[in-house]
Amino acid sequence: MPVIRPMTLDDVRAAMELTGATFDDLSRRMGEEPEPPPPDLDAAALRYRMFVTQDPEGSWVAEDEQGLAGCALATKREGIWGLSLLIVRPGTQSAGVGSELLRRAHAYASDAKGRIILSSADARAVRAYSRLGLDLHPCFLATGTPKGVTAPAGFRVGTADDIGFCETVDRFARGGARRSSIETLLAMGQTLYVLPERGYAFFGEESLRTMAALDEDSAAAVLRGVLSRVTGQTRVGYLDAAQQWAVPVLLEAGLDVRGANGLLFLGGDVGGFHPYLPSGAFL
Ligand SMILES: CC(C)(COP(=O)(O)OP(=O)(O)OC[C@H]1O[C@@H](n2cnc3c(N)ncnc32)[C@H](O)[C@@H]1OP(=O)(O)O)[C@@H](O)C(=O)NCCC(=O)NCCS
Repeated sequence: MPVIRPMTLDDVRAAMELTGATFDDLSRRMGEEPEPPPPDLDAAALRYRMFVTQDPEGSWVAEDEQGLAGCALATKREGIWGLSLLIVRPGTQSAGVGSELLRRAHAYASDAKGRIILSSADARAVRAYSRLGLDLHPCFLATGTPKGVTAPAGFRVGTADDIGFCETVDRFARGGARRSSIETLLAMGQTLYVLPERGYAFFGEESLRTMAALDEDSAAAVLRGVLSRVTGQTRVGYLDAAQQWAVPVLLEAGLDVRGANGLLFLGGDVGGFHPYLPSGAFL
């Protein structure tokens, strides 16, 4: 049985490699195309470093004689806990390591008011998250190349000066702000888009990373703005039934909408979780 211990900065590269190998294996098992590796490894490492430095109680690894056997990363900001990563090396899965890592990362949620997990379709993940007493929210996703979408007036690229606004919107839409996560997204080179006084989104590598708004019309406008910036194939996922406002926007942009494999698990007070699109990494 691997040893479970707190993650350190020295584990970051090995954890990133294990993430790639584990999700490639999951994609193969699901009959899906594996995700391409991140284009900028140093930028991708900032996510892992943020957890180790800012959420040490949520950052755990499993280690055996072969090296890193698993990793769990959980965040907590303004009372909102979220699981960013749970992986176990393919050859070591189904032996209880994931449950043990999750138990440690979830202990960090003991004083949280709300909990968020974006689950893969792995049956073991779904079982483990449901056992935490979270509610299961089925999701839909949209894929394709957006066509003929116009950004709303005032839609612009944001800067660090807009973080206060993002915090206000996050407190409304998801029950708590996440300043250091927003700072990390900016440091990773993801583009912040702002529709002043209405909502914001993060966009990178042709994908919408997360978005939040103060009402449904504003959310639809922010989504149109983001889709107007996409030049190729994109995928918008982890939309749950509360995000009906997104459906006409996605369909008008020519995207295909269908039921997703991934599931959203929510517990406690996470605001309305609406109008909102969570980030897999920053919840
Ligand atoms: C999901 C994952 C982290 C779980 O870790 P693990 O060490 O393999 O899982 P565990 O052995 O701790 O088992 C977790 C649960 O699944 C059950 N389980 C084990 N093997 C199973 C199988 N083949 N099919 C269905 N359930 C299984 C366990 O009994 C346990 O449930 P229980 O608490 O009700 O008894 C790991 O399998 C993994 O890395 N999968 C690929 C990446 C992924 O999808 N990560 C989750 C991202 S959100």
